[in-house]
Amino acid sequence: MKFFIDTANLDNIKEAQDLGILDGVTTNPSLMAKEGITGDANVIAHYKAICDIVDDNVSAEVIATDYKNIIKEGEALAALNPKIVVKVPMIKDGIKAIKYFSGKGIRTNCTLIFSAGQALLAAKAGATYVSPFLGRLDDISTDGLTLIEDIRLIFDNYGYPTQILAASIRGPLHIVACAKLGADVITAPLAAITALLKHPLTDSGLATFLADHAKASGK
Ligand code: G3P
Repeated sequence: MKFFIDTANLDNIKEAQDLGILDGVTTNPSLMAKEGITGDANVIAHYKAICDIVDDNVSAEVIATDYKNIIKEGEALAALNPKIVVKVPMIKDGIKAIKYFSGKGIRTNCTLIFSAGQALLAAKAGATYVSPFLGRLDDISTDGLTLIEDIRLIFDNYGYPTQILAASIRGPLHIVACAKLGADVITAPLAAITALLKHPLTDSGLATFLADHAKASGK
């Protein structure tokens, strides 16, 4: 399973990259705004900075919602760096644009997926990734994990190469559940990823090992 980090924070991206487990980054306009990155030139510079840190898979989201401008923006983003994956919203013109990008060999991430039908349509159009938003479904008392399960079944039924990128992850249990369900990728904040490290028995076990070693060494 690939691990992406869901942030535009360069320090967080560097920390995950340094851990040696990072396969990519997802951003969106809200995450960019959270870091105070505003204005087209600054956003572009920020995407370039992210590409300098990671090995591949930097999702850069288009702002346009009409076909012509999605294509224009997406092609400009893809031209920035071969690591860029153009993130396109799940709307009618977005699906048309994904089909176009697919024909041009430009990788896409279809975002804001909340139903299996939407994922099916994006896969038909040739999306590289679909991003179902688990946490936001959970927020409205709908089981986000069931959506991952349904999309996995559908993609496997027909052999769609589109990868399931589980997004809107809120914690380590979401990550483990997605791995059990066969999601191809998770994207999560740094805190959810590093929470996977933690177990109280690891901490107490290590403390005992170190204490016993010190005693045996006469320290
Ligand atoms: O890529 C953004 C997606 O993961 C949304 O996350 O936490 O805003 O629901 P969140």
